[in-house]
Amino acid sequence: MSKTPQVGVFKEGSTHFYFLEYQFNSSNLAQIKSSITASLNAFPDVSVVVSFGEKAWHTLQPNWMPATLTSFKPLKGQQGHQAPSTQADLFFWLHGDDISTVFDAAQHIDKQMKRVATLCLDERGFSYHQNRDLIDFEDGTANPKTDELKREAAVIAKGLAGEGGSLVLTQKWVHDLDKWNAISVHCQEAVVGRTKVENIELEGEAMPDDSHISRTDLKVGGVPMKIYRRSAPFGTITEKGLLFLAFGCELVRFSSQLESMYGLTEDQKIDQLLNFSKAVTGSYWFAPSQEDLDEVLGSE
Ligand code: HEM
Repeated sequence: MSKTPQVGVFKEGSTHFYFLEYQFNSSNLAQIKSSITASLNAFPDVSVVVSFGEKAWHTLQPNWMPATLTSFKPLKGQQGHQAPSTQADLFFWLHGDDISTVFDAAQHIDKQMKRVATLCLDERGFSYHQNRDLIDFEDGTANPKTDELKREAAVIAKGLAGEGGSLVLTQKWVHDLDKWNAISVHCQEAVVGRTKVENIELEGEAMPDDSHISRTDLKVGGVPMKIYRRSAPFGTITEKGLLFLAFGCELVRFSSQLESMYGLTEDQKIDQLLNFSKAVTGSYWFAPSQEDLDEVLGSE
C-alpha cells in the first residue's frame, strides 16, 4: 500500500493562510512530540500541514532521512541578489476559508509550540483577486493540472525514503511595488513571461530568456522540473509580497530553479523578477506522509 500525503497538501480553494516557523529550544523529545500532536487536528475546518527541517527530522526520526533533503544553503546571485537561509526546525502551513478560524488555529498551535520552540516566522497570507500575486499577475497557472500530475510533481516516489511525503521550499519575498508599478505593462509582461490580463505565455522572440518563466520552466537531464506551487500574497501597506511555498518530489526541482533565477548557470542570466522582489527568508522542509508523521509522533 502506498503512503498518503497529509490531506492539506492537495486541498485547494482556501482563501486564508497562515505560515508559522519554529526553532526548537527544548531537547525534551516527548514534550516536542506531544506539542506537535496537540497542534494538529484541533480545528476541523482548517487544513494544517506540518513539515520538518533536516536537523529536526533527524532528531525525531534518527532511523532514516527522506531522500534528497538538506538544509537551505544561501545563494549569492550573479548580479548581487541574495537568497538568505533562515532554516528552522518546523513549519506549519494552515489554510481555510474563514479568517477567524484560521487565526484561532494559528493561536492554538502557537500555544502548544511555545512550550518547546521559538517562533521565527509569523505571517498571514490571503487570496488576492482570484489567485493573483500582488504584482497583479495570476500565480499558479502552470501548476500541474490533474491529481495524477500534481502527485507526480509533488510526492516522493514509492520505494524511496520518505515515499508519500514531499520536499518543500518556503521563501518570504518582499516586493518593491512602487518600482514594479512604475514600469509599463509591456515591460512587466516581459519580466514575468506571460501577458497580464489574458495570462497567456509569451512565445518565440517575444519571450525573453531572462523572464521568470524562462528561468523556471526547466528540464534537468531531460526531466521537466515540475513542482506544485501553493504560494500566497501577504502583508500590509508597509511590507508586502509573496509567501512562496512549493511541494516537490526531489530537492533538485527547487535548487535548479533557484540557481537559474540567480544566474548560477552557464548563461549567467538572472530572473528579472529579482529586480522587483527580494527573498528575505529561505528554508527546505520535509512534509512526511500521514503514516510517517503518525509514526514519528508515536500516534500510529
Ligand atoms: C517574487 C517571487 C515570485 C513571484 C511573484 C512569482 C510569480 C509567478 C508568476 C506570476 C508566474 C506565472 C503564472 C504561473 O504559472 O503560475 C510564475 C510561474 C512560475 N514560478 Fe514563480 N514567482 C516567484 C518566485 C518563484 C520561485 C522562488 C520559484 C522556484 C524556486 C518559482 C517557480 C515558478 C514556476 C516553476 C513557474 C511556472 C513556470 C512554467 O510556466 O512552467 N517562482 N511565478
